Parts: sequence; structure tokens; C-alpha cells
Amino acid sequence: MQRQVARTIHDYEMFGGEDRLLLGVSGGKDSLALWDILTELGYSVDGIYLHLGIGEYSSESLQLTERFAASRRLEMRIIDLPVDYGFSIPQAAAGQSRSACSVCGLSKRYLLNEAADGYDVLVTGHNLDDEAATLLGNVLTWNTEYLGRQAPVLPAVEGLVRKVKPLIRVAERETAAYAVLRGIEYEVEECPMVAGNTVNRLKERMNLLEEQSPGVKQQFLFGFFERGAEHFGAGTKPELGSCLSCGGPTTGAVCAFCRVRDRAIRLPEKGDA
Ligand code: FES
Ligand code: ZN
Repeated sequence: MQRQVARTIHDYEMFGGEDRLLLGVSGGKDSLALWDILTELGYSVDGIYLHLGIGEYSSESLQLTERFAASRRLEMRIIDLPVDYGFSIPQAAAGQSRSACSVCGLSKRYLLNEAADGYDVLVTGHNLDDEAATLLGNVLTWNTEYLGRQAPVLPAVEGLVRKVKPLIRVAERETAAYAVLRGIEYEVEECPMVAGNTVNRLKERMNLLEEQSPGVKQQFLFGFFERGAEHFGAGTKPELGSCLSCGGPTTGAVCAFCRVRDRAIRLPEKGDA
């Protein structure tokens, strides 16, 4: 696993020893295994934990992450969505037309990008299964915009930090096995809001295909990177303006995070949840 990750970092020129690295850590097996691997490979990586206010699940994941960081003397910062921004993911999801996972996903992207101010690279623990299932979802709906942005490395553009995914060659079962072998205690419970998560459903489908044709996930994802992505405008820079509310990058007038937050904060007062 350590060699696979080192090879991925090298092949995609993700970062070098002099770069300041920030890793999004959730308390799950992937991000903690990756933190361990990067540290073993000699990189110095700070962690950022996003407390999303999802009941016990969030507090437990935070405890596990803190314990891991303390045991290895790693630097870790916490962003607390309810305390720092005034709403939780369940609150935000209650009054939106979007699914909980979509609100959660866009909030994480926003907060991680903001937290990475002062760092060169934002590292995330997306693995082979995550990426293959996301790709399948984008192909099934022909979401050409997302297809153009699915890549192991997203270079920095004005307002957006460089993002990299060193675990893309590693399957979910492997990170779980690695975590166990390395004695890493991680959050085994699934997020209680997972019902309706399309990526999870697609992962199950991909696992069935993988059983019948071993290696198909890898071929699907890496075939896309090597031969498909270029047809969807991969590498073209998005046209971004500044959000009128927070100043962050956005393609519209007000960014998606500010719109979600404004609704979540306004809702209880209007009583229209
Ligand atoms: Fe979708 Fe937690 S909000 S899995
Ligand atoms: Zn904004």
C-alpha cells in the first residue's frame, strides 16, 4: 500500500517534500490510513477535521481522529460547522431540494478549500471504489461537466487550492485491511444520513461487476483517465467569479455553500421546515 501510494504521488506529480500538505480527515479508514502512509513515507501532513453536526456519529469520528493524531503527534485542526457557521448538515438538509449527501458534499468542498488557505496542496482519501463509482454515476447521467473535472490531480486556480487523491489505486477493502494491520482504530459505523447515497449504491453494483470480471474497476477508472477524460475538457480552467456573500470562488453570483447556509439559518425562524 505504501509503495502503491508513493507510485501514484510520483506518476501524477502530486506533490514534493517541500510542499505544505493538508489532509481532510474524517475518522474513517481511508483518511486515517492515508495519514499513516504519508507519514511513513516521510511527508509532514497536517489534518483538518470537519465537524458536520451529525449527532453521535460526528462526535465519535472526531474522538477517533483526535486519538490517532495524538498517538502520532500529528497537527490537527477542527472546523465545527454548527459552532463556526451556525448550522449542521441535518439542519441544512431538512429544507433543501438537494439530498443530504449533496449538501454534505458541497459543504465539505467549500470548508476544505477554505481551510487549505496557506497550504500548497489539499489531499483527500478518495479511493478506487469511490472514484470508479463516481465515474459510473457521471457516465450514467452524462454529466459532462463533472466528467471534465474528475481527475487524480486538480491544479490550483484562482480561489481554489490544488487537490490530489493519492489513494486512487487502492481499493476500499485494502485500506480497511491496512488500518487493521497497523492498529488504526477508525469509525466503522456508516453515516446515519447515508440512505439515498447514489455513490454507495453504485459501489455495490461495481462490486458485482468486479466479482465477475476482476480488475474491471481499475480498467474503467484508469482507462477513463488515459483515454476518456480528454474528450470532456479535462484540464480546462473553470471561469470563476467571487461570491457576493463570502468572496469565495463561484460560477454564479452567490456560492452554493452560502445559499445552503442562508436557507438553513433562516428556516427555523420561518417555521417552514
Ligand atoms: Fe451522505 Fe453522510 S451525508 S453519507
Ligand atoms: Zn459564498
